[in-house]
Amino acid sequence: VPEFDIIVFGATGDLALRKLIPSLFHRWRDGQISKTSRIVGVSRAEMDCVGFSKLALGSFREFHPSERVDEAEWGAFTNNLRYCGLDAAHAEADWSYVRNALKGAGDKQRIFYLALPPALYGAVSANIAAAGLNQAGARIVLEKPIGAGLQSARDINAAVGAVFNEDEIYRIDHYLGKETVQNLIVLRFMNSLFEPVWNANAIDHVEITVAETIGAGGRASYYDAAGALRDMVQNHLLQLLCLVAMEPPLDLDSDTLRDEKIKVLRALRPISRVNVRSSTVRGQYGKGAIDGEVAAGYCEELGGPSDTETFVAIRANVDNWRWKGVPFYLRTGKRMASRYSEIIIQFKDIAHALVDDEPLPPTRMVIRLQPDEGVKLLLVTKDPGPGGMRLRYVPLNLSYAEQFEARYPDAYERLLMAVVRGDLGLFMRRDEVEAAWRWVDGIRDAWAQDDTPVYNYAAGTEGPAQAAMMLDREGREWFNGA
Ligand code: BG6
Repeated sequence: VPEFDIIVFGATGDLALRKLIPSLFHRWRDGQISKTSRIVGVSRAEMDCVGFSKLALGSFREFHPSERVDEAEWGAFTNNLRYCGLDAAHAEADWSYVRNALKGAGDKQRIFYLALPPALYGAVSANIAAAGLNQAGARIVLEKPIGAGLQSARDINAAVGAVFNEDEIYRIDHYLGKETVQNLIVLRFMNSLFEPVWNANAIDHVEITVAETIGAGGRASYYDAAGALRDMVQNHLLQLLCLVAMEPPLDLDSDTLRDEKIKVLRALRPISRVNVRSSTVRGQYGKGAIDGEVAAGYCEELGGPSDTETFVAIRANVDNWRWKGVPFYLRTGKRMASRYSEIIIQFKDIAHALVDDEPLPPTRMVIRLQPDEGVKLLLVTKDPGPGGMRLRYVPLNLSYAEQFEARYPDAYERLLMAVVRGDLGLFMRRDEVEAAWRWVDGIRDAWAQDDTPVYNYAAGTEGPAQAAMMLDREGREWFNGA
């Protein structure tokens, strides 16, 4: 890994303390970060370098309670950690501390990481340029969400694009850094078995579920303005859909891949007022229990009324040759019964039944992204024994934990190193982000016109009953592959 300087804006915020600094520490511990690489934290809080290092260590220990790290090891890691108290979005701010911290950079790779609200991306980019810090080849990393809709995404992309070239802009969708998500391309295109059946001839439908048990928590002010559609579907779920649905790329070049992904986004059938009730379900959690513990309802946590959705289920269609008539059911929610993300590929029923008792379950492929990463093919098998033709539905199981005994780097570790190496394929291109917003904005407009209800679901359940009914109407049901 080449030497680099990374400047983290929003260094005392949740993302930086919970994910970025710990990820840099893990990569450093594994020997991937050279002694000469530097981390510069920037934030408005008044603090010195020692104070910042302590703060970062405290939150590392809080979020990684099972890992031991002593002061000496942390001290060695933070030897090259600096902190600058500065309001980077303010035009008059004094950047001399940052400039000093970056002295003697030579030809090191420079990376600006904006762990900030997206409304500040434009101003901070302009101020970086005004401070003379965007040396040739410098890269900028932007967190999702890029804006709150198509128009604000365009404005942000234009403002950042006025300072950085598109191939210097790394828009993070941390799902693209997950091990199993990266494996989707390998699974589909580096095995000969799947591609011939990966289409409407053989596949009945696809389900993509990202269920969480956490609530909106400490991010309520952001979350209440965003909701599940903008927080999760616009980015993570649509990226997964793209990887499942895209055509085989010519190679793994970053633009070849992204060219294929954007074709899927463009093929998404718009959801409008006419079909919004049959194609979407909005939900919000009320009081309930998760793992035997009482969980408050969303509005109670928020401290006031709100009609923000914390759950959404969508019936999507990819209108192209490959996927004609194959629905893609997407759902995601907070405070659901358990935390898991998975993709289910359900194949069509067999053409002719040889036994006439029970209807046979369909062949399913379960791609489990988290936890218990793995891939299962669910098949009908004969139950062994002399008792005649008894059938069982069993998995052909590839469990990552059993197959590969290693610690999986967190998605952020992988993505940070990808930025250093310049691997743009794991990041969203400008046109991708905008195409995803266009579809999502259509749904939001339709909700507003239709006044689509937000159904209540008890915390600790699978979401509102209407989400099950949406599939039931089509003779299908959500499948949990666990
Ligand atoms: C983030 C969302 O992008 O992804 C959060 O803003 C969500 O609301 C998180 O909790 C889920 O990520 P993961 O990696 O825990 O599945």
